[in-house]
Amino acid sequence: MKTDVLTVDPENPDRDVLGRAASVLRGGGLIAFPTETVYGLGANAKDAAAVARIFDAKGRPAANPVIVHVSDANEVLNVAASISETGKTLAERFWPGPLTLVLPKRADIPAIVTAGGITVAVRCPSHPVARALIREAGVPVAAPSANRSTELSPTRAEHVLAGLDGRIDMILDGGPCPGGLESTVVDVSGPQPRVLRHGLIDVATLESAIGQVEVSTESGACAARSPGQMSKHYSPRTKLRLVTGPELMEELFRATHDGLKVGTVMFHGRALVPGAGPHVSLPCEPPAAAALLYDTLFRLDRAGLNVILVEPPPDEPPWAAVRDRLARAATDA
Ligand code: TXA
Ligand code: MG
Repeated sequence: MKTDVLTVDPENPDRDVLGRAASVLRGGGLIAFPTETVYGLGANAKDAAAVARIFDAKGRPAANPVIVHVSDANEVLNVAASISETGKTLAERFWPGPLTLVLPKRADIPAIVTAGGITVAVRCPSHPVARALIREAGVPVAAPSANRSTELSPTRAEHVLAGLDGRIDMILDGGPCPGGLESTVVDVSGPQPRVLRHGLIDVATLESAIGQVEVSTESGACAARSPGQMSKHYSPRTKLRLVTGPELMEELFRATHDGLKVGTVMFHGRALVPGAGPHVSLPCEPPAAAALLYDTLFRLDRAGLNVILVEPPPDEPPWAAVRDRLARAATDA
């Protein structure tokens, strides 16, 4: 299959382009599109065969449910059977935006979307291209991140193309995603709200809206409640290791001495040995670092390195999402 790449103005997407993309969606096709977090790979959520194509294109295990996107918060009941008071408060405060709510599913949402479960994850994105595309298609849009399963999430159209060229119908290139990291997933289907995946909205910000929330500590491949919590995920192809500052310097010297090409990522801009490999210094602010994280790892992944050494960011709550992704990127490496 040929994958068409169409450029769109991220603020004011062209009606013709949206019309073409929307008709592909309605016809059961797959479209990658920008959101404020990462690029999504969309299909009509009410068309089981279309959603099955997402799983094929990504090589995604059938046990991992996908998020359904709506163009307006008041369309949530097109996807969910009901929404709790806590869910409503969160939706009012954070939608449109990088928050995903897990809710009881409506009967007409196909089982493949929810991996056979009785809940469905719903998100109303804020990116103008995502909202306009969903509105134009007139259907809720199932969309995981637009990458091959376990690989890095894409924040640019070129990242999508690198993983999915020839496997999907179209990519809407709306430039880089501003947030750069996935949405926060909160389960509000039970009595106690529970964070299933750290994301762009941190726990303290959620708690400012609804009071104390539980944070899921499940991890590992059997984390059935949110399989995006599988331990190997969000990974570059190059081996990635998390090592603290002094250790990192030592490893860098040793590996360079052994003739290995090493990339490094740190969070406070300390200069490293010139000429020893690509060194990236990410900002010390969590949102600014999140915005650049995947793009940085994509670039290092293409630099022909033997290993990428990353100094973990501070062990503080606002860094939870970045730390979580780096820990998973490093697993098995
Ligand atoms: O920012 C995002 O959330 C992006 C953009 C495209 O919206 N999407 C995204 O989708 O990251 P994906 O499929 O890569 O991750 C969805 C996460 C996974 O961890 C999945 O297990 C979880 O949401 N999830 C989906 N449905 C669920 C459900 N019914 N119950 C619990 N977790 C669910
Ligand atoms: Mg993903």
